[in-house]
Amino acid sequence: MRVDVLTIFPAYLDALELSLVGKARTAGLLDVRVHDLRDWAHDRHRTVDDTPAGGGAGMVMRPDVWGAALSDVLTEGATLVVPTPSGPTFTQRTAEDWATREHLVFACGRYEGIDARVAEHHRARGVRVEEASIGDYVLNGGEVATLVMVEAVARLVPGVLGNAESVVEESHSAEGLLEYPVYTRPVEWEGLAIPDVLMSGHHGKVARWRRDQALARTAERRPDMIAALDPTRLDKRDRATLGDLGWWVHPDGVRPAGE
Ligand code: ADE
Repeated sequence: MRVDVLTIFPAYLDALELSLVGKARTAGLLDVRVHDLRDWAHDRHRTVDDTPAGGGAGMVMRPDVWGAALSDVLTEGATLVVPTPSGPTFTQRTAEDWATREHLVFACGRYEGIDARVAEHHRARGVRVEEASIGDYVLNGGEVATLVMVEAVARLVPGVLGNAESVVEESHSAEGLLEYPVYTRPVEWEGLAIPDVLMSGHHGKVARWRRDQALARTAERRPDMIAALDPTRLDKRDRATLGDLGWWVHPDGVRPAGE
C-alpha cells in the first residue's frame, strides 16, 4: 500500500518511522511518503493560506497550492482523505475499507481548513474523496488525525501484524463487543489475583468467561454497542448473560429489559 501525506508540518509524521508502521515500511509492505505542502507554494514566503471569503476569523488554505500538490501526488485510483472535524466519523469499519485500497493521500489542513473547491474539484474528476473525523473534538490540524488513521489502517494491511488472530479478537472487530480484560504474571500483585478460571487450563471455560466479560464491559461502557448487536449471533449463554445485565434479546434486536 502507498500512503502520501501532505502537510505544512512534516515533522509531525516522524512517528510513522517507529514501531509496527516503521517496520512495515522497512519490510516494503508500506510505502509512506511525507511532503511539505509549501514546496508547491509559488511566492517567496511560501504562502499556503489567505483570509476567508465573506469574512470571519482565521485563515483558509489556498486551493491553487493544494491543486498543484495533489496533481503531482495523486495516482490513478488513489483515495484522497481530508481529515476534518466536520467529516463522518472514522471507525474500525472505515479502517477495514481503506486497508483494501492501493493508494491513500492524506491532505492535512491547518487554520480554518482547506478551500472547499479542492474536494469538489477532485470529486468531479472521479477521485474518491473521503472527509473523516476521528472524534467530536477540534484539533489544530489534520496531522494527528492522519497519524491515527494511518496506524489503524496500516495494521490491517496483510503481513503488517504478525498474529492475524489478534485483529479478529480485539475491541471493535466484527463481533461488535469491547475486548475482555487481560492479565499476565505475577499471579498475585498488590493483593490482586488473576481470576481463577484463567489459571484453570480449561479452554472452554476461559472462552465463556471472556465472552461474558466482553458482554458485561460493553453493556457498562458502551450500551449503544449492545443495542446494535445482531440477535442471530447471540447464543443461549449470551442471552442469559445479557439478561443478568438487564438486556432482552428480541428477534429484531437487543433492548433494555422492559422496553
Ligand atoms: N482536524 C481537526 N480536528 C479534527 C478531528 N477531530 N478529526 C479529524 N481531523 C481534524
